[in-house]
Amino acid sequence: MAEDVTGTPGRLGSGACDVKGVPRLHHLHYHARMCGIFGYAGKRTDAGVIAIEGLKNLEYRGYDSWGIASKCGGELLIEKNIGAIGEIKSEDFSGRCSLSVAHTRWATHGGVTQRNAHPHLSEDGSIAVVHNGIVENYLELRRDLKAKGHTFLSETDTEVIPHLIEEELKKSGDFAEAVRSACMNFDGRYAILALHTKSNMLVAARTGSPLIIGVERNAGHAAASGYFIASDIPAFIKHTRVVQYLDDGEMAATNGRSISFMDICTGESRAKREIKITYRLEQAQKGDYEHFMLKEIMDQKESVARAVNQDEGEIRTIAEAIRRAKGTFLVGCGTAAKACMAAEYFFSVIAEHHVNFAPASEFKMFHHFLKPDSLLIVVSQSGETADVLEAMRVARDKGAKVLAIVNVEGSTIDRDADYTLLINAGPERAVASTKALTGQLAVLLLIAYALSERLKDGKTLLLESASAINDMLNPRFVERLEELAEKIHENDDLYIIGKSWNYPMALESAIKIQEVSYVHAEGFAGGELKHGPIALIEKGSPCIVLTGADEALQDILSNAQELKARGAMIIGVGPQKFEVFDEWIKVPEAGTAQAILNIIPIQALAYFLAVKRGKNPDMPRNLAKSVTVK
Ligand code: F6R
Repeated sequence: MAEDVTGTPGRLGSGACDVKGVPRLHHLHYHARMCGIFGYAGKRTDAGVIAIEGLKNLEYRGYDSWGIASKCGGELLIEKNIGAIGEIKSEDFSGRCSLSVAHTRWATHGGVTQRNAHPHLSEDGSIAVVHNGIVENYLELRRDLKAKGHTFLSETDTEVIPHLIEEELKKSGDFAEAVRSACMNFDGRYAILALHTKSNMLVAARTGSPLIIGVERNAGHAAASGYFIASDIPAFIKHTRVVQYLDDGEMAATNGRSISFMDICTGESRAKREIKITYRLEQAQKGDYEHFMLKEIMDQKESVARAVNQDEGEIRTIAEAIRRAKGTFLVGCGTAAKACMAAEYFFSVIAEHHVNFAPASEFKMFHHFLKPDSLLIVVSQSGETADVLEAMRVARDKGAKVLAIVNVEGSTIDRDADYTLLINAGPERAVASTKALTGQLAVLLLIAYALSERLKDGKTLLLESASAINDMLNPRFVERLEELAEKIHENDDLYIIGKSWNYPMALESAIKIQEVSYVHAEGFAGGELKHGPIALIEKGSPCIVLTGADEALQDILSNAQELKARGAMIIGVGPQKFEVFDEWIKVPEAGTAQAILNIIPIQALAYFLAVKRGKNPDMPRNLAKSVTVK
C-alpha cells in the first residue's frame, strides 16, 4: 500500500501524489459504489454484442439500469435502459463494431432513470464514459464546466467526467493524457472507462474500484488481437484467461492492438505482468440452475474440499505467526464477519488461544491494542470490501502485519495483504454469500488445528466433512428444505438460536434469510433468550435450533424447550433427532466442523423462502455483491 504523505484528503490532485508518484490511498474515502464496467477494443467486429454478454455476467454488481456505447461503422451507437439487462434493440450493434463500453448501474447520484444510466457523453459526443464510484466534488466541477459552455443532461456525478476530459483534450490533444489530467481533479475513489471515437481508444483509470484487463491473442500469435476491460473476470473469461490487474492509482490506454500502463499522478509508464486464470468457465456460469444462489449452495459439494487443500507448511507458518503475535485480531463484514466470530470459538475450544474478533466497521475503536508485532487476519469473499481495507490501513499504521483469507485472487485485499490464503471457492456471483463462507470456516478451522499442533487431525476431519456435505446435498435433502420453506414462507418472523460456534451461525442464518426472502429473521445465543428476546415468541413462531453432538447440546435443547413452552414451532438442525423438535433437518455429525455443515441447509431454506415469496434471490433489493462503500 502507498505511504502516507501530506495533501488534500481524498484528492488525486497534484498535492495528492507522494514522491514515488503513488496516490495517497490512505487518505482517500472509501465511497465507491458497486457498478459493473465492461469495455472492448480490438479486431472483433461484434464489440456491441460482446459488451452486452459481458455485462450480463456483471449484473450481480448492480441492476437498476444499464447502458452501452459502441463505435459501429464510424458511428457511436448508444442504448440505455432501466431495469435488468435486456437485449439491445438495435441490430446495428451486431456488426462493424470494434470499440465499446458498457455499464450496469447501482444508483447513488441521481435516480434510476434512462437519462442517468451510463455511458455519459462529452459535449461533442466523441467521448463516452462509464464509471464506478463517486466524484465527490462533481457539483463544483459541473459549475466550472457550465461556465465554459458545457450542457448536462443527467443528475449524475459521472457526467462531469467526459466533459472535463473533453476540456483537457483541447489542451494536450492526447486522449490518455486528457483522461489523466481530468483524474487529477476528481475527489473520491472510482474506476473509469472512457471511449474516444476520434482516436479509437479506450482509457481506464482506477483509484478504488477494481478494473481487470483481459488480453486476447489469436492462436500462434504473440501480439494481442484485442483487450477487454472489466470490473470482474467472469465478464470476459469466455474469451480469454490471460489477465492484467490495474492497481490503485494506475491507468491503462489501448487502441485494441497494444496497451500501455501508467501512473495517474506522474504519467510514468508501468510494467505489468500477465497472469493466467485457472478456474473453469462453468464455475462462473449458472449451468442448469435457475439461480446462482442455488448453484453456489450446491457447489459446496466440492468447494469445501478445495478450501481444505492448503499447503500444510504455509498453514503451520501462519499458526506460528499467530502464536507469536502480540494480539491477533480477526475482522470481516457481514457473512465473513460471522466466519471470524466462529473462528474465535475454534481458536478457543480447539487451540485454547485467544483471538479478538470485531466487525471490520468497528475495528478502528480497538486500534490502541495494536502493536507492531500484532497480527490482523482479514476475511473477505470479494477482497474489495471498503471497511476491511480501512481496518487494514489502521493495522498498517501501527506497523502490524496482515493475513488475508479471500476468495478472489488478485483483489485489492489479496494484493495489499502481507500474506494471503485463497479459499478457492470459485466465482461467487449471487449477492448472498454461501460457498465462500464454508470455505472461510474450513480454512480458519484448519489454522486452529495447526495452532494446537493437530493439523493432520483437522485436515482429516475437514475432508470427511467435505465428503459428508457431498452426500448431504442430495436431491431428497434439497426437496426437504423446499417443503419446509413451503410450510413457513408466509410467516413474517423467524428466529434462530445456537450456542458456541452455532451462535455465529444463528446470526448468519438470520442474514441469509433476511437478505434474500425479506422475512424478518433474528439470530440469538440460546442462553440470551430468557434475557429479552423470548418475549417475541408467539404460538406457532418458527424457531430454528442449531445443534451439534457437543458440550453445548443439553443447554441448547433446554433453550428449545423454553421456546416450545411459549408455543414456538421448533425446527431442529443437527445430527440427532430430539422430542422437542416439530421438524428435524438431519445434518451429518461433524464434531468441531459442525457449524460448516449446519449452515448449508439454512442457506437452502433461505433460497426457497425467497423463491416461494416471489423474490429473485440473486438480486436482493438495496444490496450489491461487494460493498466498496464505507
Ligand atoms: C451476505 C453477504 C455480505 C458479505 C459482506 C462482506 O450474504 O454476502 O454480508 O459477506 O458484504 O463481503 P466480502 O466477503 O466480499 O468482504
